[in-house]
Amino acid sequence: MSSQGHAAVLGIETSCDETAAAVLDGAGRVLAERLWSQTAEHAPYAGVVPEIAARAHLARLPGMIEAVLAEAGVAPSAVAATAGPGLIGGLIVGANLGKGFALARRLPFYAVNHLEAHALSARLPGVADEAPAFPYLTLLVSGGHCLLMETRGPGAHAVLGRTLDDAPGEAFDKVAKMLGLGWPGGPALERLAAGGDAERFALPRPMLGREGFDFSFSGLKTAVATILAAYPAGALPERDAADLAAGFQARVAWTLADRARRAMRAAKGCSVLVVSGGVAANGAVRAALAEAASGEGFTLAVPPPALCTDNAVMVAWAAIERRRVGDPGADLGVPSCPRWAP
Ligand code: KG4
Ligand code: ZN
Repeated sequence: MSSQGHAAVLGIETSCDETAAAVLDGAGRVLAERLWSQTAEHAPYAGVVPEIAARAHLARLPGMIEAVLAEAGVAPSAVAATAGPGLIGGLIVGANLGKGFALARRLPFYAVNHLEAHALSARLPGVADEAPAFPYLTLLVSGGHCLLMETRGPGAHAVLGRTLDDAPGEAFDKVAKMLGLGWPGGPALERLAAGGDAERFALPRPMLGREGFDFSFSGLKTAVATILAAYPAGALPERDAADLAAGFQARVAWTLADRARRAMRAAKGCSVLVVSGGVAANGAVRAALAEAASGEGFTLAVPPPALCTDNAVMVAWAAIERRRVGDPGADLGVPSCPRWAP
């Protein structure tokens, strides 16, 4: 076994609706990975149903762990599992399976903060030409989270701003639902917006002129609902739907870029803006953030979609980063926690 293989880490992710397991070597190379997205299970309910998610994690995770261990061909020297924040049923399934495995094999266990894992994922080998050095700015934009923070190192994150109401992915999903698109609605809304005129409808720019780094999306969402309410049921012309989708998407992209720009101006010693979470897959969002970053002399680092959305690779990687700074992984007593600040 190589020395890197010797330091292999098993990672587990179950905080929302992705069941995932991965084994990385000590340098962060992926030796094996499995990911099961539960979208089909939750789609009939147009949202994640916590009880269904927890049961699906329990049904699938043990087999996935066996599969990655067999494929990796090395015995892990540590176990890492997301312990929060997220849906408590799924967190309990993943973290306790991880703890049981670690106990049985007398391995260190890392209770991983999901938000930290997103923030550190940009440093995985091969993600950026050069791994972003600490400190850098992280913008996390997903269905459940909206956070702007300064990432100073493992266990060292300063939250600058967060959403006051919805997360951006949640707003995308709700507006998509109003427009009669499926769930999750972000990708469908982006496709619809491609043919639309973003300036046709007068939609608000969230947090325009407001101090600080917080976000808000509910006013924009309500503005879309108010415009839609003027149409008789089932009588929304395709053209108008596309224009509304484009307008909504452009305002979300604008406000994310506006808040990030303010943070880039304020953050001392940072020169990289890392963006993670499902909404980072949106082309308009990426373009707005790229423009803001280059205007402030920052480099934009966006992990590829498979690493931006929930996955177990980033969970194992967070433990590898913690090991590198001397964290022994003595977390068997750390409980799963639905709310956990990074
Ligand atoms: O990170 P993620 O896979 O899961 C968590 O929420 O943790 O993010 C999923 C969210 C959903 O709300 C989805 O609609 C949104 O990201 N999303 C998008 C796009 N792709 C995914 N939103 C806008 N445009 C997209 N292309
Ligand atoms: Zn996530």
